[in-house]
Amino acid sequence: MILSGKAKVAGVMGWPVGHSRSPRLHGYWLESYGIDGAYIPLAVPPDGIAQALRALPALGMKGCNVTVPHKEAAFRIVDVLDPAARRIKAVNTVIVRPDGSLEGRNTDAFGFAENLREGAPDWQPAAGPAMVVGAGGAARAVAVALLDMGVPELRVVNRTRAKAEELAADLGAAVTVIPWEWRGRALADSGLLVNTTTQGMQGQPALELDLAALPPAAVVTDIVYTPLLTPLLAEAKRRGNPIVDGLGMLLHQARPGFQAWFGLLPQVTPALRRFVLEGI
Ligand code: ATR
Repeated sequence: MILSGKAKVAGVMGWPVGHSRSPRLHGYWLESYGIDGAYIPLAVPPDGIAQALRALPALGMKGCNVTVPHKEAAFRIVDVLDPAARRIKAVNTVIVRPDGSLEGRNTDAFGFAENLREGAPDWQPAAGPAMVVGAGGAARAVAVALLDMGVPELRVVNRTRAKAEELAADLGAAVTVIPWEWRGRALADSGLLVNTTTQGMQGQPALELDLAALPPAAVVTDIVYTPLLTPLLAEAKRRGNPIVDGLGMLLHQARPGFQAWFGLLPQVTPALRRFVLEGI
């Protein structure tokens, strides 16, 4: 791709950043929409994140994504937060405003909601309580998305109970904490099950969760997308539950940032999905 001197520049800050799929994803959109712009990987160590973010306006850059381990630090550094970032307590998208100040957004909840809508169009938030396994940063984004979509009750179950309690205290009365030992039983009347832990990821053991009590119509989704069919999703599929894989969350969370930096809201297409998968 040949850039002009006026090219718009954004990127992703991570440490390490080599595993990030975002350059491939944004690069695909830049090329397919014929935009004079670049999206680059930025290897930023933890002690450099504040300096690196402040350098964005100094370099004339439009902004960036922030990924592991910088999302909570970015939350503390930026000048303005959008409501989602405030609730999730993490920032994944930074936009340089015309006056050089930094706006921090969190688009992970948007990405989760869009992926769920696309992958399980028949799922109704009112179908019953939703159960979220895990209480880390990703779980917060998922919880915010589900509450905004209107689930009547959100059950959070986490190995470390205190983190689930903290999430519940932050996000309101619709969130209840289920003890880790009860996670199988608590599925009995669920309409949706979401894994937000790292269990099931390549190189990690499968999530230990007995699906026997899960209603057959309940949707099961995993935010892990390496592999695309995690052991949890494979088991749910075998039982006949509708499943939604996690790749779409990655693809959709990227759209609002692209729009802010490069000027148009890009679309998630089957060809994009295939292209990103080839790079995994
Ligand atoms: P992220 O920001 O991607 O959500 P995180 O904040 O490190 O990452 O959260 C990881 C989640 O996976 C946590 O809920 C963690 O549970 P703990 O709070 O008990 O650490 C969960 N997790 C990681 N390894 C696990 C395991 N072996 N069994 C169960 N849960 C696990």
